[in-house]
Amino acid sequence: MDYQAFIEEQTAAIRQAVGTGRAINALSGGVDSSVVTMLGHRALGDRLHTVFIDNALMREGEPQRVAAMFARLAIPVEIVDARDEFLTALRGLTDPEAKRQAITDTFYARVFGRIVRDSGATHLLHGTILTDIEETVDGIKRQHNILAQLGIDPAEAYGYQVLEPLATLRKDGVRAAARALGLPDEVAGRIPFPGPALATRIVGEVTAARLATVRQATAIVEEELADTPAFQYLAVLLSDQATGIRDGRREFGQIVVVRCLHSVDAREATSVDLPWDKLHTICRRITAMPGVNRCLYDLTPKPPATIEYV
Ligand code: XMP
Repeated sequence: MDYQAFIEEQTAAIRQAVGTGRAINALSGGVDSSVVTMLGHRALGDRLHTVFIDNALMREGEPQRVAAMFARLAIPVEIVDARDEFLTALRGLTDPEAKRQAITDTFYARVFGRIVRDSGATHLLHGTILTDIEETVDGIKRQHNILAQLGIDPAEAYGYQVLEPLATLRKDGVRAAARALGLPDEVAGRIPFPGPALATRIVGEVTAARLATVRQATAIVEEELADTPAFQYLAVLLSDQATGIRDGRREFGQIVVVRCLHSVDAREATSVDLPWDKLHTICRRITAMPGVNRCLYDLTPKPPATIEYV
């Protein structure tokens, strides 16, 4: 595929759809939303307003890191603090689809809807990719960013039009587009990170304390596996607890699962045969975290598993 041609086509399509209006997009720092930000900026310049919504579910230091990186590309990013709103919406929820729904509703109907209305934007640029659409339509999972494919009219439901310039690409295609757009390898080669963020890696209730645990475990896994040529690696917090011993006393502790996968486009995946010494190092560091006394490595391929746990 000719990605320069793809960029030209999508830039022209965005320009035509938005006309003389204004657009807005939410950037998470992942490759999909980063490519959309670049395309939208090329098409619309400062008529595109890019926001980073801090939903309390992001990785360590992520909002500031992403805003700083786009500042270097001369694209201003506004960080919106919506942490309390998301945590309140997620309080008490344990069902995976209910959690995803709460994140969707908080994101689109509340936080983003409000920002769009205040900004006067007529269009929302969105980083939906083909795999998201297929899995949602197939009923495998309700990706948080799919609206039209489920028969929801965003103009009617939320008051703005949604444009999805990446809807024909899979992850490998988005990475190629990112490189063609001149995004740094830090973005183009970045491992996937889901829209609902760390909430997809917490089985059971998503609370500030449980997020802090999975955030710290994620930082350890990402640091230890940074040189692994894997498609994706992550840490998950289970809702069960297990008996263990800490400082000579019985402890009923938390369980963290580590996942590291080969995949081309996330439709299928197999676990990576990590060296035992690497697994031991990860296990030692994760179980040194307060209250975490088990660390498991998940060997399950997709299918029958999915990559994330929620
Ligand atoms: P699963 O868990 O379905 O994940 O095997 C497949 C790939 O998609 C990512 N993922 C998401 N990305 N919104 C996204 O933007 C979502 O709701 C979502 N759920 C999963 C996941 O990280 C993996 O790369």
